[in-house]
Amino acid sequence: MYATSLGDDGAELRPLEVWHAEELLAHIDRGREFIGRHVGLPDVVSDLDGARAWLKAYADKRAVDGGSLHGIWLDGTLVGGLLFRVWDTPGGVCEAGCWLEPAAAGRGLVTRGLRVLLDWAFEERGMHRVEWHVSSANEPSIGVARRLGMSREGVLRENYPHRGVRSNTEIWSVLAPEWRAAHARTGQNDH
Ligand SMILES: CC(C)(COP(=O)(O)OP(=O)(O)OC[C@H]1O[C@@H](n2cnc3c(N)ncnc32)[C@H](O)[C@@H]1OP(=O)(O)O)[C@@H](O)C(=O)NCCC(=O)NCCS
Repeated sequence: MYATSLGDDGAELRPLEVWHAEELLAHIDRGREFIGRHVGLPDVVSDLDGARAWLKAYADKRAVDGGSLHGIWLDGTLVGGLLFRVWDTPGGVCEAGCWLEPAAAGRGLVTRGLRVLLDWAFEERGMHRVEWHVSSANEPSIGVARRLGMSREGVLRENYPHRGVRSNTEIWSVLAPEWRAAHARTGQNDH
């Protein structure tokens, strides 16, 4: 399978597809509690049928250029993923997201993978704006937005009911000229 290397530690970015359903379920099972603190992914991928259905929903999005799903493999094990939940080509706006199992956190995998995807979004696909929607309580994910040079634009108050509690969602974004200017200043691999 074709893959993009994320560095010299064996990390790779590859398309995450329907045939990965068993691998995805095993990965989510390893990180169910950690991943589910702020997002509903583990509830959607609750069993093999749920994993297949979610992967198929993203295959359908990809088929109409409406979103995409990408896995992060470390030494051959699926340890996390990146996605474009929303992808609006005519409007030039998309929304990115991410998750990792806990053993893979703290190594820059998501930041490194998103740099590849944001380069592709801006430079190959002509996106103008990449958004990041994150719970105000999700410090690690806010850290990702900061490392990518995003700006915090505002807060949707108590808009997201998650496991019986309503949380605030912060909207962060980076625009194409900002992305290019940051790259010109710092180079691709700084963090
Ligand atoms: C959000 C989440 C993916 C962030 O994970 P993370 O490991 O902090 O993010 P990264 O993979 O970008 O790694 C960054 C960390 O690795 C470090 N790092 C090491 N090498 C690095 C490199 N080459 N590049 C960037 N960071 C690097 C950074 O310093 C940072 O550590 P710190 O926070 O202690 O300073 C993770 O907490 C998660 O999966 N949470 C559950 C699901 C979720 O909430 N998803 C987001 C929904 S909006």
